[in-house]
Amino acid sequence: MDQHQPGGVSTLAPPTAERATGVPAEAAAPLSSYDATLRLTDLPDRDRDLEPAELEALAAAVAQQPETWEHLVGFDGEQRVYASLHRDTHVDLWLLCWVPENDTGWHDHDVSSGAVAVVRGELVESNLTLLAGARETSVAAGSVFSFGPDHIHRLNGARHGSVSVHAYSPPLWRMGQYAVDDAGLLRRVSLSYADELRPID
Ligand SMILES: [Fe+2]
Repeated sequence: MDQHQPGGVSTLAPPTAERATGVPAEAAAPLSSYDATLRLTDLPDRDRDLEPAELEALAAAVAQQPETWEHLVGFDGEQRVYASLHRDTHVDLWLLCWVPENDTGWHDHDVSSGAVAVVRGELVESNLTLLAGARETSVAAGSVFSFGPDHIHRLNGARHGSVSVHAYSPPLWRMGQYAVDDAGLLRRVSLSYADELRPID
Protein backbone atom coordinates (compact mmCIF):
# COMPACT_ATOMS: atom_id res chain seq x y z
CA MET A 1 0.00 0.00 0.00
CA ASP A 2 1.18 3.48 -0.82
CA GLN A 3 2.08 5.06 2.51
CA HIS A 4 0.28 8.29 1.54
CA GLN A 5 -2.88 6.58 0.43
CA PRO A 6 -5.83 7.83 2.42
CA GLY A 7 -7.87 5.23 4.17
CA GLY A 8 -8.11 5.99 7.86
CA VAL A 9 -6.48 3.87 10.48
CA SER A 10 -5.55 1.17 7.97
CA THR A 11 -2.69 3.46 6.89
CA LEU A 12 -1.34 3.28 10.42
CA ALA A 13 -0.41 -0.38 10.56
CA PRO A 14 3.07 -0.85 12.03
CA PRO A 15 5.40 0.31 9.28
CA THR A 16 7.88 -1.81 7.48
CA ALA A 17 11.58 -1.15 7.85
CA GLU A 18 11.75 0.92 4.68
CA ARG A 19 9.00 3.20 5.99
CA ALA A 20 10.66 3.73 9.35
CA THR A 21 13.00 6.50 8.22
CA GLY A 22 10.24 8.87 7.07
CA VAL A 23 9.60 11.01 4.00
CA PRO A 24 12.41 13.56 3.50
CA ALA A 25 11.62 17.22 2.96
CA GLU A 26 12.66 17.04 -0.70
CA ALA A 27 9.94 14.43 -1.21
CA ALA A 28 7.36 16.07 1.08
CA ALA A 29 3.91 14.58 0.48
CA PRO A 30 0.68 16.56 -0.06
CA LEU A 31 -1.52 16.90 3.02
CA SER A 32 -4.54 16.18 0.86
CA SER A 33 -3.36 12.60 0.34
CA TYR A 34 -3.90 11.84 4.03
CA ASP A 35 -7.12 11.17 5.90
CA ALA A 36 -8.24 14.57 7.22
CA THR A 37 -10.60 13.01 9.75
CA LEU A 38 -8.04 10.94 11.67
CA ARG A 39 -8.09 11.59 15.44
CA LEU A 40 -5.66 10.56 18.13
CA THR A 41 -8.29 8.18 19.40
CA ASP A 42 -8.21 6.39 16.04
CA LEU A 43 -4.57 5.45 16.38
CA PRO A 44 -4.08 1.73 16.91
CA ASP A 45 -1.66 0.19 19.36
CA ARG A 46 -1.52 3.22 21.61
CA ASP A 47 0.68 1.25 23.99
CA ARG A 48 3.67 1.92 21.78
CA ASP A 49 5.53 4.83 20.22
CA LEU A 50 4.64 5.85 16.67
CA GLU A 51 6.81 5.50 13.59
CA PRO A 52 7.53 8.37 11.18
CA ALA A 53 4.86 7.21 8.71
CA GLU A 54 2.26 7.27 11.49
CA LEU A 55 3.42 10.69 12.66
CA GLU A 56 3.03 11.95 9.08
CA ALA A 57 -0.57 10.78 9.02
CA LEU A 58 -1.26 12.35 12.40
CA ALA A 59 0.40 15.70 11.65
CA ALA A 60 -1.29 15.82 8.23
CA ALA A 61 -4.68 15.12 9.75
CA VAL A 62 -4.37 17.74 12.50
CA ALA A 63 -3.08 20.25 9.93
CA GLN A 64 -6.35 19.75 8.07
CA GLN A 65 -8.38 20.37 11.25
CA PRO A 66 -7.89 24.13 11.78
CA GLU A 67 -10.61 24.16 14.42
CA THR A 68 -8.07 22.46 16.74
CA TRP A 69 -5.33 25.10 16.39
CA GLU A 70 -6.58 28.22 14.59
CA HIS A 71 -7.19 30.07 17.88
CA LEU A 72 -3.51 29.59 18.83
CA VAL A 73 -1.99 31.18 15.72
CA GLY A 74 -0.05 34.33 16.49
CA PHE A 75 3.10 36.18 15.56
CA ASP A 76 5.25 38.12 17.97
CA GLY A 77 8.15 39.92 16.36
CA GLU A 78 11.31 37.86 16.60
CA GLN A 79 9.89 35.40 19.14
CA ARG A 80 8.65 32.18 17.63
CA VAL A 81 5.13 31.43 18.81
CA TYR A 82 4.52 27.79 19.68
CA ALA A 83 1.77 25.98 21.51
CA SER A 84 1.29 22.44 22.75
CA LEU A 85 -1.76 20.86 21.14
CA HIS A 86 -1.47 17.49 22.87
CA ARG A 87 0.93 15.44 24.96
CA ASP A 88 0.56 11.89 26.26
CA THR A 89 2.83 8.93 26.97
CA HIS A 90 3.62 8.22 23.33
CA VAL A 91 3.09 11.34 21.23
CA ASP A 92 3.08 15.11 21.42
CA LEU A 93 1.71 17.65 18.98
CA TRP A 94 2.77 21.26 18.58
CA LEU A 95 1.66 24.28 16.60
CA LEU A 96 4.48 26.57 15.47
CA CYS A 97 4.09 30.05 13.96
CA TRP A 98 7.00 31.51 12.03
CA VAL A 99 8.38 34.77 10.75
CA PRO A 100 11.55 34.90 8.64
CA GLU A 101 13.64 35.91 11.66
CA ASN A 102 12.85 32.59 13.37
CA ASP A 103 15.65 30.04 13.20
CA THR A 104 15.89 26.86 15.25
CA GLY A 105 19.62 26.47 14.73
CA TRP A 106 21.05 22.99 14.18
CA HIS A 107 19.42 20.42 16.41
CA ASP A 108 18.34 16.82 16.86
CA HIS A 109 15.35 15.34 18.69
CA ASP A 110 17.26 12.86 20.86
CA VAL A 111 15.29 9.59 20.71
CA SER A 112 12.14 11.00 19.05
CA SER A 113 10.90 10.59 15.51
CA GLY A 114 8.97 13.52 14.07
CA ALA A 115 6.75 14.86 11.31
CA VAL A 116 6.21 18.45 10.15
CA ALA A 117 3.07 19.49 8.27
CA VAL A 118 3.25 22.98 6.77
CA VAL A 119 -0.17 24.60 6.86
CA ARG A 120 0.55 28.16 5.72
CA GLY A 121 3.46 29.94 4.14
CA GLU A 122 6.69 28.03 3.68
CA LEU A 123 9.47 26.55 5.80
CA VAL A 124 13.05 25.85 4.86
CA GLU A 125 14.66 22.72 6.22
CA SER A 126 18.44 22.66 6.17
CA ASN A 127 20.52 19.50 6.48
CA LEU A 128 24.23 19.59 7.08
CA THR A 129 26.75 17.80 4.90
CA LEU A 130 30.37 17.58 6.00
CA LEU A 131 31.77 18.17 2.52
CA ALA A 132 29.34 20.65 0.97
CA GLY A 133 27.90 22.50 3.96
CA ALA A 134 24.21 23.15 4.38
CA ARG A 135 21.66 21.79 1.94
CA GLU A 136 18.38 23.72 1.96
CA THR A 137 14.98 22.38 1.02
CA SER A 138 11.86 24.55 0.80
CA VAL A 139 8.67 22.97 2.08
CA ALA A 140 5.55 24.75 0.88
CA ALA A 141 2.19 24.94 2.58
CA GLY A 142 0.14 21.83 2.02
CA SER A 143 2.87 19.25 2.46
CA VAL A 144 4.34 17.04 5.19
CA PHE A 145 7.69 15.40 5.80
CA SER A 146 9.01 13.16 8.56
CA PHE A 147 12.17 11.78 10.07
CA GLY A 148 13.59 9.30 12.52
CA PRO A 149 15.63 9.99 15.66
CA ASP A 150 18.86 10.01 13.65
CA HIS A 151 17.81 13.22 11.90
CA ILE A 152 19.69 16.51 12.39
CA HIS A 153 18.22 19.65 10.87
CA ARG A 154 17.53 23.34 11.09
CA LEU A 155 14.19 24.99 10.35
CA ASN A 156 13.44 28.54 9.29
CA GLY A 157 10.24 30.33 8.44
CA ALA A 158 10.65 31.34 4.82
CA ARG A 159 7.70 33.72 4.89
CA HIS A 160 6.03 35.86 7.49
CA GLY A 161 2.91 34.12 8.72
CA SER A 162 4.04 30.54 8.16
CA VAL A 163 2.32 27.92 10.32
CA SER A 164 3.20 24.27 10.88
CA VAL A 165 1.96 21.30 12.90
CA HIS A 166 4.61 19.02 14.41
CA ALA A 167 4.18 15.51 15.83
CA TYR A 168 6.85 13.66 17.84
CA SER A 169 7.07 10.18 19.28
CA PRO A 170 8.13 9.45 21.91
CA PRO A 171 7.19 12.96 23.09
CA LEU A 172 10.05 15.42 23.02
CA TRP A 173 11.89 15.45 26.32
CA ARG A 174 15.50 16.30 25.52
CA MET A 175 16.90 17.78 22.30
CA GLY A 176 20.42 18.35 21.09
CA GLN A 177 21.43 21.84 19.98
CA TYR A 178 24.66 22.15 18.01
CA ALA A 179 27.18 24.96 18.19
CA VAL A 180 30.74 25.64 17.17
CA ASP A 181 32.91 26.63 20.12
CA ASP A 182 35.70 29.19 20.23
CA ALA A 183 38.20 26.54 19.12
CA GLY A 184 36.09 25.71 16.07
CA LEU A 185 34.87 22.39 17.41
CA LEU A 186 31.31 21.23 16.91
CA ARG A 187 29.60 20.66 20.26
CA ARG A 188 26.22 19.27 21.28
CA VAL A 189 24.27 20.96 24.06
CA SER A 190 21.38 19.02 25.61
CA LEU A 191 18.21 21.10 25.99
CA SER A 192 14.84 20.50 27.55
CA TYR A 193 11.88 20.36 25.19
CA ALA A 194 10.59 23.42 27.04
CA ASP A 195 13.57 25.48 25.88
CA GLU A 196 13.13 27.40 22.65
CA LEU A 197 15.50 26.23 19.97
CA ARG A 198 17.63 29.01 18.56
CA PRO A 199 21.14 29.27 17.19
CA ILE A 200 23.83 29.22 19.87
CA ASP A 201 26.36 31.98 19.37
FE1 LIG B 1 13.36 19.84 14.68
